[in-house]
Amino acid sequence: MKAMPTFAADHRPGPIGIFDSGYGGLTILEKIRELLPQYDYLYLGDNARTPYGSRSFEVVYEFTREAVLRLFSMGCRLVILACNTASAKALRSIQQLDLPCVAPDRRVLGVIRPTAEAVGSLTRTREVGILATTGTIQSCSYTLEIQKLYPDIAVFGEPCPLWVPLVENRECDSPGADYFVEKYVSRLMRQAPDIDTVILGCTHYPLLLDKIRRYLPKEVTIVAQGELVAASLKDYLSRHPEMESRCERGGECTFYTTESPEKFSTMATLFLQQEVSVSRLILE
Ligand code: DGL
Repeated sequence: MKAMPTFAADHRPGPIGIFDSGYGGLTILEKIRELLPQYDYLYLGDNARTPYGSRSFEVVYEFTREAVLRLFSMGCRLVILACNTASAKALRSIQQLDLPCVAPDRRVLGVIRPTAEAVGSLTRTREVGILATTGTIQSCSYTLEIQKLYPDIAVFGEPCPLWVPLVENRECDSPGADYFVEKYVSRLMRQAPDIDTVILGCTHYPLLLDKIRRYLPKEVTIVAQGELVAASLKDYLSRHPEMESRCERGGECTFYTTESPEKFSTMATLFLQQEVSVSRLILE
């Protein structure tokens, strides 16, 4: 087993790290930068090893830990796992097993908790649906988080394994997308027709929002995560001035991918509506 680097306490400011298995985290980054434009960000997409959604717990944990440690070595004091699959399968282990040993004054936050917190005030029927990758659904992370906060809410999950490939292959507007959106949405609603709140539990899914809305009953509230995660980060920084003072202020974002920078840059326009300059980085 590789020796893990350790990170001594360091009070100098650094960028906030935003990590995703690929492009999906850009939907979270966009909302974070809208709300908190004053900070510097370092985005890392593990495009060479995406998708994470179909991978085992051990592999997602190993890949995510490598990414977090690399972001720490690049100066990040705070890292957001802007990926539901990584948040579901790796966050707790990183927080509880790794951080205390290798980086006790650094922090890693996920996207599931802030999303789970929001549903309590949105659902009237107390039946909530989750659309997510197979890995996120199998982890039961949303069910556990929501029921810890709101024991009276019943949670129903439906894996949507073909939605990430549809987005990444630019098929969001195709008839094929209609077929697979309708398929998974109707499977979810068949589980519990009284569901009135549906969480898009994967950072790619906002790109399919129009189609998802088309196939869900009109009265269902759709919860996309970007704004919730951004608001939760703002709140976290206001409650942790010792971390806020270590978040570099410059308003810049630097992008890294583990795959081809050209490919990333082209795809990023689909998520961010702007060209970005990207560098390649190899994780190990
Ligand atoms: N971004 C990931 C998530 O939010 C999904 C993509 C993948 O499967 O790697 O779960």
